[in-house]
Amino acid sequence: METDRGTEHQQAAMSMSDQDEHALSPVSSNDTAVPADQNENADAEIATDESLHDQEDHPPSLILDLGTGSGIWAMQVADQYPSAEVIGTDISPVQPKWVPPNLQYEVDDLEQEWLFRDDCFDLIHVRFMFLSIKDWPGMLRQAMRVLKPGGYIELSELDLRPVKVQDGSPEPATITQWFKLQGGAINHRGFDMQIAHKFKGLLEQAGFEAVVEEVRDVPWGTWPSDKRLKSIGFWHVEQLKQGLQGIAMATLTRSGWSVAEVEVFLASLRREMSDPQYHILDHAYIVYGRKPLS
Ligand SMILES: C[S@@+](CC[C@H](N)C(=O)[O-])C[C@H]1O[C@@H](n2cnc3c(N)ncnc32)[C@H](O)[C@@H]1O
Repeated sequence: METDRGTEHQQAAMSMSDQDEHALSPVSSNDTAVPADQNENADAEIATDESLHDQEDHPPSLILDLGTGSGIWAMQVADQYPSAEVIGTDISPVQPKWVPPNLQYEVDDLEQEWLFRDDCFDLIHVRFMFLSIKDWPGMLRQAMRVLKPGGYIELSELDLRPVKVQDGSPEPATITQWFKLQGGAINHRGFDMQIAHKFKGLLEQAGFEAVVEEVRDVPWGTWPSDKRLKSIGFWHVEQLKQGLQGIAMATLTRSGWSVAEVEVFLASLRREMSDPQYHILDHAYIVYGRKPLS
């Protein structure tokens, strides 16, 4: 049944603080500790930062978080805009039960046709979805339909394509090899590990206007001197390490590796990830655009 918020059917701004040039200067290779006061989860740290397009002057009344996952972004935005209604959708009902009263989670497959009515949302947020969305133009077409004229879509994603800093630091051979293998397998399944740098073009092709792209450095590990980047780098690598076996085992064994070979490879990969002599960066893309008024 359709309501003001769109449908009764059960169905991010990743924002780091401004980063100074000097922040990427390496620290001594012994200085790998994350300061105690920086020991926050990088996801939470990133998500709690200010949104790129400030909506305080025109508070949104209906917000959609696609693929809400733990629902953390939806909870934060529901608290930020208490007069708004927030809907977080996900194919998997893993969200917490205790949430702000203006937030509702719904189970829905975003790759199917959405049942929300036309022109109802002020803001649609899509974050960390590169392993969940195959048809990005299709998703954007549906987003365009359900956004109000003048409403925004915001996409946030890591472009997982580690770049070596040109400062004389050594080449991380195992990480480079892993990315070639992993990227090929993920692309073979129809996902794009490096979709983020294409967002701006995709939004423009879909008809969004005033498209803004911001690109931020996400270091691997604790090598930068800047405390905040050090913390982000620490948690970036910790998260990758935690998911490593799950990500790599299927890919590599399906390519003919034995389980023992994969374990040895992953041990070497973990060592390289924690070694501050390697200075590499991923890039976070935050891209948003507006549905035209007419
Ligand atoms: C990496 S999590 C992103 C979580 C959240 N957006 C965030 O930034 O914290 C990807 C989420 O997409 C969901 N997902 C995967 N395929 C989906 C689909 N077809 N429709 C809706 N959600 C999907 C997964 O269940 C998972 O919760």
